[in-house]
Amino acid sequence: MTILDGKALSDKSKQQLKNEVETLKQKGLTPGLAVILVGLDPASQTYVNSKEKACEAIGIYSKKITMNEDISEEKLLETIKELNEDESIHGILVQLPLPKHIDSAKVLEAIIPQKDVDGFHEYNVGKLVTGNETFVPCTPLGVMKILEEYGINPVGLDACVVGRSNIVGKPMMNLLLNAGATVTITHSKTKDLKAHTLRADLLVVGIGRPNFITADMVKEGAVVIDVGINRLENGKLTGDVDFEEVSKKASFITPVPGGVGPMTIAMLLHNTVRAAKFAKGSC
Ligand code: GUN
Repeated sequence: MTILDGKALSDKSKQQLKNEVETLKQKGLTPGLAVILVGLDPASQTYVNSKEKACEAIGIYSKKITMNEDISEEKLLETIKELNEDESIHGILVQLPLPKHIDSAKVLEAIIPQKDVDGFHEYNVGKLVTGNETFVPCTPLGVMKILEEYGINPVGLDACVVGRSNIVGKPMMNLLLNAGATVTITHSKTKDLKAHTLRADLLVVGIGRPNFITADMVKEGAVVIDVGINRLENGKLTGDVDFEEVSKKASFITPVPGGVGPMTIAMLLHNTVRAAKFAKGSC
């Protein structure tokens, strides 16, 4: 069994991006990312702070905009409009989830597709579905990079994605399909989930339930990718997969923490550098 070390790969990707940013800066181009955080959700605050720090570490200009929980949708849309027009900003990210009174779909559509480094705009979603990728959501993109790094070729594999979110499950399904896997997507309402997971050569899990996938649900020798990040009552972080037991059956498996999580941020930096290069027509 091989542990898929997302932390090491993320460090390597960030070093490469840092070198690339240095070269771009010498040519007068500093990539810029704006991150908007609405409200005080502790997990969102942690994620946004990590994104800001990661930008600084590799030389990307980062602009963090924090807004009160009760901000109007109109004000948020106005801020996005300003950022769309700001030439120092190449990527715009609105941290999700947003408060209930704000229409998230409307907000995500307000970001121009060229600055949509999260890949959540319907234009970019459509591009992913048709296989003309532009900006791909960071977490599933990070999963694809891990597979590539370890020489795991999805062509012809039976892949099972557990979870159908717009952030992870659906883009993951499309990326694996585009890469030649035979993909089954499952979710909390799936009848006899185990029948599907047991057939999978490649199992990708992002359902948000700690230790949800147990060893009896996994095929011997499967590649297991755990996208879950759950904080237990004792403060410990754990994934959606029972790592201890499943790792005895898997051929490759990601740990939590240190697996997919660090790759998400590395891919955000990657998309931001790409957006800056697109903007300057040097891609
Ligand atoms: N909330 C959880 N994951 C993400 C993500 O990848 N992007 C944004 N914008 N919000 C999130």
